[in-house]
Amino acid sequence: MASVKEMDTYAKLWMKEAGARLRASFNTKLDIEMKTNPNDLVTNMDKGIEKFFCDKIGEVFPDHRIFGEEGMGNDIKDLKGTVWIIDPIDGTLNFIHQQRDFAISLGVYVDGIGKIGMVYDVVSDELYHVIKGQGAYMDDQRLPSLEPATVNRSIVSINASWVTENRRIDPRLLAPLVRDARGTRSYGSAALELAFVAAGRIDAYITMRLMPWDFAGGVLLIEEVGGEVSNIKGGKLNYIEGDSLFVSKPGLHKEVFDKYLSGNSGL
Ligand code: IPD
Ligand code: CA
Ligand code: CA
Ligand code: CA
Repeated sequence: MASVKEMDTYAKLWMKEAGARLRASFNTKLDIEMKTNPNDLVTNMDKGIEKFFCDKIGEVFPDHRIFGEEGMGNDIKDLKGTVWIIDPIDGTLNFIHQQRDFAISLGVYVDGIGKIGMVYDVVSDELYHVIKGQGAYMDDQRLPSLEPATVNRSIVSINASWVTENRRIDPRLLAPLVRDARGTRSYGSAALELAFVAAGRIDAYITMRLMPWDFAGGVLLIEEVGGEVSNIKGGKLNYIEGDSLFVSKPGLHKEVFDKYLSGNSGL
């Protein structure tokens, strides 16, 4: 059976190579297609990078399965065995419009337990990575344990959609959180937002809907540095169907659930 160290070494190599391909694509004309709606886009690079990972993993670890956004891996209905959960470009809109603030996200799970998490900020060339139990890092720099935080001293990452009319949450619940926080941000890449929480650059990230490939790598970084991870009801994340997500420094979870989300029974 492949050792975690072996998978980690290959994963880092492939992340770097995939990132270099993405940076090189800035000089080429992208082929852009619409998926479910005009704001849901996919490019030849999203597909090409996912295929790159599928080919590499298939060559080196033929008995592992792949769960990727663009559907080039396996049809995943459970996390039995070793599953690589991959988002080839997280933040495709940023990739297309801004050529920055997007990431490659990767998580390796063995029988449902997270072993390796990686988020690669491609343009900054910063690789956030963790082997469970061995510390979380940005490149070679170890990320320290997160200190407790309170809402009034926190920067919270939240998309403005969740405090305007939407189908997933009553906007009146989270508007007071936006008001009480020291500041809010929205980066447009869930994986980067998770890495930033792990690195202590933002204090929390809250969102109503993500897919497993958006969070599989990033939540492992946060857990490793003592952050709190749950869905918006305080429960475990659904790694097959996707879920809402709330991650934070220690202490913030309780405050946010007590003060802002106690009326969320209709979610
Ligand atoms: C999206 C980004 C975005 C989040 C969306 C995701 P994609 O991923 O993570 O920040 O708000 O829900 O779908 O489609 O760019 O990989
Ligand atoms: Ca997408
Ligand atoms: Ca994504
Ligand atoms: Ca994606």
